[in-house]
Amino acid sequence: MKTRIILCGACGKMGGNVLSLLENDTEAVAVCGVDLFPKEIGIPVYKSFSDVKEEADVIVDFSSAENVKERLEYAKAHKLGIVLASTGFTAKDLALIDEYAKSVPIFKTANLSLGVNVLQALCKAAATVLGELYDVEIIEKHHNLKKDAPSGTALMLADTINEVFDGKKKYLGGREGIVGARDKSEIGIHAVRGGTIVGEHEVLFAGEDEIITISHSARSKRVFAVGAIRAAKFLNGKPAGRYEMKDLLAEENN
Ligand SMILES: NC(=O)c1ccc[n+]([C@@H]2O[C@H](COP(=O)([O-])OP(=O)(O)OC[C@H]3O[C@@H](n4cnc5c(N)ncnc54)[C@H](O)[C@@H]3O)[C@@H](O)[C@H]2O)c1
Repeated sequence: MKTRIILCGACGKMGGNVLSLLENDTEAVAVCGVDLFPKEIGIPVYKSFSDVKEEADVIVDFSSAENVKERLEYAKAHKLGIVLASTGFTAKDLALIDEYAKSVPIFKTANLSLGVNVLQALCKAAATVLGELYDVEIIEKHHNLKKDAPSGTALMLADTINEVFDGKKKYLGGREGIVGARDKSEIGIHAVRGGTIVGEHEVLFAGEDEIITISHSARSKRVFAVGAIRAAKFLNGKPAGRYEMKDLLAEENN
């Protein structure tokens, strides 16, 4: 039986990419959408989860961090999994997500592309070998409509590197004025916004007389939609808990 998806943010750019991929998918289907601004997109779209009538297995969320509780509560009440692909969650939202993960299977990642997950592993390996001697700076570039900054992916990469340093690093967004010499405890995170850039992440490990740069460039939003559909299929039928890309990859590679 196909994995039945409720697509939250169905009328947005990512929603459109997911829908077009699902047209030819034999294992998953979008049964309806939820969007603050419903449009005619070939499936029923509701303004709120309280209007949803269709039976489903998983919610795929590409909307925004706003009102995440509504999605989580619907998933809990209807025993659905939820793929949280939206970014920009506050610390309070993240605590709520952890609370709901006790009763709902939740797949959450700031980046659904396979390549960024490889980038994450490479950053961890580089930080482990290079240690405190190399300064880490992250530069992310996105289109001019992106609402949150820095990107969820940049923060995810910073968190991965920071794990190597037992969480001691502090994140610094941009520098201006007489800021003085760079503090060893910093990870600089810089957000560039312009045009239609899909998503670029560059991590610099700058040492004495050498720089190592590890980067990823997404050339289309399709790559994230592919990951979201894989995540929805993976999550269908899973017990409550938090899941991420490495769990999906471990299962697919088994
Ligand atoms: N995890 C990833 O790999 C990944 C990749 C791309 C985008 N994203 C994230 O996905 C989200 C959507 O990106 P997009 O480019 O499609 O944006 P978009 O603005 O084109 O689309 C968002 C859609 O969601 C709707 N929406 C917003 N808030 C809502 C709410 N509370 N309830 C219901 N609908 C709501 C909007 O009306 C809009 O149609 C962003 O948070 C973005 O950062 C994540």
